[in-house]
Amino acid sequence: MKFFIDTADIQEIRDWAGTGMLDGVTTNPSLVAKTGRDFLPLIEEICSVVDGPVSAEVTATDWETMVAEGHKLARIAMNIAVKVPLTPDGLRACKILTDEGTMVNVTLCFSPAQAILAAKAGATFVSPFAGRLDDIGHDGIALIAQIVEIYDLYPGIMTEVLAASIRSPKHVVEAAAAGSHVATLPPTVIEAMFKHPLTDKGLAAFLADWAKTGQSILTDGDTVQPLKRPA
Ligand code: G3P
Repeated sequence: MKFFIDTADIQEIRDWAGTGMLDGVTTNPSLVAKTGRDFLPLIEEICSVVDGPVSAEVTATDWETMVAEGHKLARIAMNIAVKVPLTPDGLRACKILTDEGTMVNVTLCFSPAQAILAAKAGATFVSPFAGRLDDIGHDGIALIAQIVEIYDLYPGIMTEVLAASIRSPKHVVEAAAAGSHVATLPPTVIEAMFKHPLTDKGLAAFLADWAKTGQSILTDGDTVQPLKRPA
């Protein structure tokens, strides 16, 4: 499963890009507004940090203006994925943009019927929002599993399921088990995935026992070369 990071915060993106684990970035108008930065230069900077798809969302609601905004966003970088809402106008814009070769991420998907429409519109990605469904007592992961199951029946569907609105490591595991092609993770969820008390306890015990040997792997003659961090 590919990992995208769900943030527009350039420092968070740089930090995680440095781990080599990021396959892309998703932003949305709320995440962009939170940065306080101008949208277009921010997206350009994000595209320069991560090679994979970078989702940048249109803010128009009519398909003609969505297409015009999509063209402007696509001109920023080759790895732009134009994000459009799952509305009739959004899917009309999606079809036009994908037919022109632009990646499109269809967002705000909450039902399998909507996901079928996104595939029909040629979406590169469809973003079912698991967390927001859970928030209202529905089963967000069940939606992701159902979409994967339906898409897998039709080899002609090239749309990738991008599990979004991810709230916990459990969501990530369940999205992976459901066969989602991508999950977009808030930085806090990535951090939480690393954490387990037995890992901390086990490492402390290893290091305590190692200290008793009085040995060191690197000796005075060895140096630690500063490694070049990705941009
Ligand atoms: O960015 C798309 C989606 O992941 C946002 O979901 O529920 O965390 O706002 P949410």
